Amino acid sequence: MVSLPLAKSLPVAAYQCLMLSDVQQKLDCTLRIREQWCCGGLSLKRPGEAHDACLAGLPEELEFVPFNRLPKRSLTSKQGHAALIHSFLHIECNAINIAWDAVYRFQHMPDAFYDDWSRIAAEEAYHFRLLQDYLLTLGYDYGSFPVHGGLWQMVEQTRSDVMLRMALVPRVLEARGLDVSPGIIRRFRAHEMDEAADILQIIYQDEIGHVAIGTKWFNTICKERGLDSHATFENLINTYAIDKIRQPFDLVGREKAGFSQREMKYLHALEAKKQ
Ligand SMILES: [Fe+2]
Ligand SMILES: [Fe+2]
Repeated sequence: MVSLPLAKSLPVAAYQCLMLSDVQQKLDCTLRIREQWCCGGLSLKRPGEAHDACLAGLPEELEFVPFNRLPKRSLTSKQGHAALIHSFLHIECNAINIAWDAVYRFQHMPDAFYDDWSRIAAEEAYHFRLLQDYLLTLGYDYGSFPVHGGLWQMVEQTRSDVMLRMALVPRVLEARGLDVSPGIIRRFRAHEMDEAADILQIIYQDEIGHVAIGTKWFNTICKERGLDSHATFENLINTYAIDKIRQPFDLVGREKAGFSQREMKYLHALEAKKQ
């Protein structure tokens, strides 16, 4: 593969990587950017304001369909299992883009913010590789099944404010991933799909860290703005994400990821109100 020349600024290189539609190039660039950032080879210099539009590169051959037209994902057939793994793969590809969008878009954050989000990008690329290699052993690859574009809507909705992004992407969407993972891992084990279960276990552990990074920056920004983080989180959930909150919650994972008892009480009450 031909290596692309990367910018010497982290936000600019992040944008270059975000816009790549070739996934193998995106993975390669992601790891190179992270390496260069870690060894001090990248600045935080920006050419100006980020574009308002939230654009991101994905493979051109992906077929997008509405949620209700996605292929059946069941564990009883090889194809159904592959379709489920493919849906996780698509989430990881979006997650790489989400991480680079955060680095590119949000300015004037402390250096640690960019360190955290470039680390997330590298971990999402690692998750993508694990899942892709496994999917190949099943006889499929990225693009073998249709996908839906729902994940990106929340990224667009939160493009203007880093506080919204931290509250609603890691602390709602990725936290939802924590909620469903233990059950899927158990089902994989029950069907003797141990390789898939082991991969998901690695991803689950890393994702706790991603949600924790969301918690850390959400709380930091609230503090800086003189806002009560609990009241603000509740307000944002009510406004943007009420339909995304679903029980059962992964209490162990959410606690490790920094959800307070008060936040969990609120989320439980919200679910109870819906029933
Ligand atoms: Fe991931
Ligand atoms: Fe993640």
